Amino acid sequence: MSLVRLVYASRSRLVEADRRAELARILETARRHNAERHLTGFLMATPGGFAQIIEGETGNVAETYGRIMVDPRHGDLRLLAQDTVAQPQFAGWAMAFAEHNETTQFIFGLYGVSPEAEIFEQPLDVLLDLAGELASARA
Ligand SMILES: Cc1cc2nc3c(=O)[nH]c(=O)nc-3n(C[C@H](O)[C@H](O)[C@H](O)COP(=O)(O)O)c2cc1C
Repeated sequence: MSLVRLVYASRSRLVEADRRAELARILETARRHNAERHLTGFLMATPGGFAQIIEGETGNVAETYGRIMVDPRHGDLRLLAQDTVAQPQFAGWAMAFAEHNETTQFIFGLYGVSPEAEIFEQPLDVLLDLAGELASARA
């Protein structure tokens, strides 16, 4: 089985009033679908955007990204990588999640991500390093 890692960034279309509830719904759906497909990964959210890493079998990753792409809760998706990898980086997480808030802003800030410098503008290497750092901070 070949293991693929897909990374994309997008602009959030969540409205502030529904943001909390909508993020909870996204995660609940993502974790349920991903567990069924043995997908793992990391979703990062800032006030204006998302960045997500999805790992798993090629067909499952492609089918899932197809659904995510057409989700009206975000837009302007930029596919940054779709690589074969030897090992999953987020094994055990049907979808880990980190948000830019008072607790995490220091780590986001280390990687130059702030409400002004949004996550969807960041290059691939920054997103991968940031996800790794956030994952180790919560482990
Ligand atoms: C930022 C973002 C990340 C998402 N991540 C996933 C994901 O990892 N896996 C998944 O199945 N759906 C994910 N979704 C939800 C899908 O876009 C879609 O709503 C869902 O898979 C459809 O599920 P349903 O047919 O059960 O309603 C995400 C949505 C958004 C906006």
